[in-house]
Amino acid sequence: MSRQAPRHYLQFSDLDREEYAYLFRRSSLIKARFKRYEMHQPLVDRTLAMIFEKHSTRTRLSFEAGMHQLGGAAIYINTRDSQLGRGEPIEDAAQVFSRMVDLVMIRTYGHDIVERFAAHSRVPVINGLTNEFHPCQVLADVFTYIEHRGDIAGKVVAWVGDANNMLYTWLQAAAILGFRVHFSGPAGYGVDLQRAGYPVTEAERACLGCFDDPLQACEGAHLVTTDVWTSMGYEAENAQRMRAFQGFMVDTRMMARADPQALFMHCLPAHRGEEVQGEVIDGPQSVVWDEAENRLHVQKALMEFMLLGQLPD
Ligand code: CP
Ligand code: NVA
Repeated sequence: MSRQAPRHYLQFSDLDREEYAYLFRRSSLIKARFKRYEMHQPLVDRTLAMIFEKHSTRTRLSFEAGMHQLGGAAIYINTRDSQLGRGEPIEDAAQVFSRMVDLVMIRTYGHDIVERFAAHSRVPVINGLTNEFHPCQVLADVFTYIEHRGDIAGKVVAWVGDANNMLYTWLQAAAILGFRVHFSGPAGYGVDLQRAGYPVTEAERACLGCFDDPLQACEGAHLVTTDVWTSMGYEAENAQRMRAFQGFMVDTRMMARADPQALFMHCLPAHRGEEVQGEVIDGPQSVVWDEAENRLHVQKALMEFMLLGQLPD
């Protein structure tokens, strides 16, 4: 029996501009219903499996609460307690998981792991963060920007710090949604245009500006954002990174160079006094709590879309 391959959400570039427009509209509707305590349960009897090979607070909370609110159930699996930690091949795990559940979310190390899982899965797979990409977070971030300031097309997003999974996902979003990313980070931690397996595309390159001076990257920006200097999986480099990133903390001087209406975002968890000054993340331009909450609403829209497609309002 031939079976149609399911659609997955592994990178931001897996959806197009029109689908994002739908998802942002749908996220608003789902959020408004949630705020009015109205039940919205299109996924009754559906099950999400969540596989975590790295730590998480927000991703687990938002997917688990979200699936529950949509009427379905979520199952949490981690490497330590499952056979994944004892060497069961990811391809075999994909076969088994996807015969028992309707949707799978994975947080893991190499992006090739989610690709291999997806290639052997009968059900849609969502990337809950890999070393290379974090699409659900940028989905929430763009939605948060739109909620506060309207369309992000034509705007400038300043990224100060490490060229990590979040930065490369922002670049994909920029190419699809039509904004610019102004990057500044220390030598040796900059954007790798030829990144092994996942090189920056021409369209992404066209949206990117690189600056040695973080103040210049922030000049006129509509959104200033950053992330930890040491991502999960890179802990052995921590001491070296702490030295290298001195001078790249987002501070009030950088925010003052941005557009007067600029927002500050951070995917969290944050380290005050390292990548961001306390006055900035706890200041009036920061929308980090809305950003965190919006993980819930956008991922509910995403899960609904992946299982049911586009629905009328
Ligand atoms: N931002 C984010 O993905 O948070 P967690 O690591 O807590 O899931
Ligand atoms: N870049 C960070 C994001 C954490 C949500 C990491 O990968 O650890």
